Amino acid sequence: MPPPARPPMTIDQKVRKPLKELDVKGVGDIQRLFFELSQTLDGEANSLVIKGARSEAEREQICKTFRNRWLGRKSGLIAQADENWLKTAGTDYKRDAGRFFNALRAQVEEKVTALPAEIRLHVGVDAVFTDAGSPDLTLPGHRRPRGSVHPVTRVMREIEDIFLGLGFSIESGPEIESVYYNFEALNIPESHPARDDWDTLYVDSQTLLRTHTSPVQIRAMEKHGAPLHILCPGKCYRHDNPDSTHATMFHQVEGLAVDTDISFADLKGTLDFFARKFFGEKIRTNFFPSFFPFTEPSGDLAISCVFCEGEGCRVCKESGWVEVMGCGMVHPEVLRHGGIDPERYSGWAFGLGVERFAMMKYDINDIQLFHQGDVRFLEQF
Ligand code: PHE
Repeated sequence: MPPPARPPMTIDQKVRKPLKELDVKGVGDIQRLFFELSQTLDGEANSLVIKGARSEAEREQICKTFRNRWLGRKSGLIAQADENWLKTAGTDYKRDAGRFFNALRAQVEEKVTALPAEIRLHVGVDAVFTDAGSPDLTLPGHRRPRGSVHPVTRVMREIEDIFLGLGFSIESGPEIESVYYNFEALNIPESHPARDDWDTLYVDSQTLLRTHTSPVQIRAMEKHGAPLHILCPGKCYRHDNPDSTHATMFHQVEGLAVDTDISFADLKGTLDFFARKFFGEKIRTNFFPSFFPFTEPSGDLAISCVFCEGEGCRVCKESGWVEVMGCGMVHPEVLRHGGIDPERYSGWAFGLGVERFAMMKYDINDIQLFHQGDVRFLEQF
């Protein structure tokens, strides 16, 4: 049987032993000992700061105890380290031990000086009603900064609100999706060159991170049948190189309406109404022909440039129009995959990029800002 392991020594025990009893074999060992002391110093000071004090008197007491523990003339940790470590270091180690010791002592002195200002007084109901001396009620209380709603979430909610007002409901679907829902059911067979339009991140040969929110169209049709008016906000993933307009993860909002007698006029009317609600009444919309395998006919919705109001500028490349989303009439094959009879029903769909909308609305020129979590950026919203 191996001998029972000795419990590890605390730093308080170590500092009371001369170096030769501490198995010191080189400068590295001495450095580690001083490092442990310096870590202990930081740890103790931090926990005092976190705890705070309930009164001026208590704060004074805490600082005094801390000072004695570290700088006390005989039994303070610094005095002990001087006595037991520095003085017992052989000539080989003297110089290095002296260097470590001086650095530590400077660190301790700095902490002892800084501590009183770092320990805050709790001023509050419990301070008033406890016997904790006489709290200074004129001091400001603890500031608890409030967070704010992330701009992507904010824009997503704004879009949701507009469509909820039109009678749409919110749907969601998985971010880890099957090849079937992301492509096949949306009329994009494996051989189709359009698969290359979505730089897909695969989990395995049949599973991927959804490249758009369109798979939720199929899931919603399967689940609810027709008629259907849904909106699906959510995260999407593409194997894009990050730059000012591309991010590996981004957000889309998908819209889908399926009912009897739905025509392209419904799509145009709804998206025109939406664009004016979101960007302001002055906005004009325009539809350009486009291609998506899951819509026929397909279009790109363009809005009059929010920066130059259609006059022509750098942002709209002098055209006066900016494309903001893909849309079209749901392909009959897609309705069929959702279990809906295309002879009876028709529908329209759209998909838009939330970050892009936020960038236009708040005049932000780099998509990366949304995902870096920099408070200086976020607190502006
Ligand atoms: N899913 C398409 C994209 O990611 C957008 C789209 C959605 C187009 C619905 C038409 C209809 O680019």
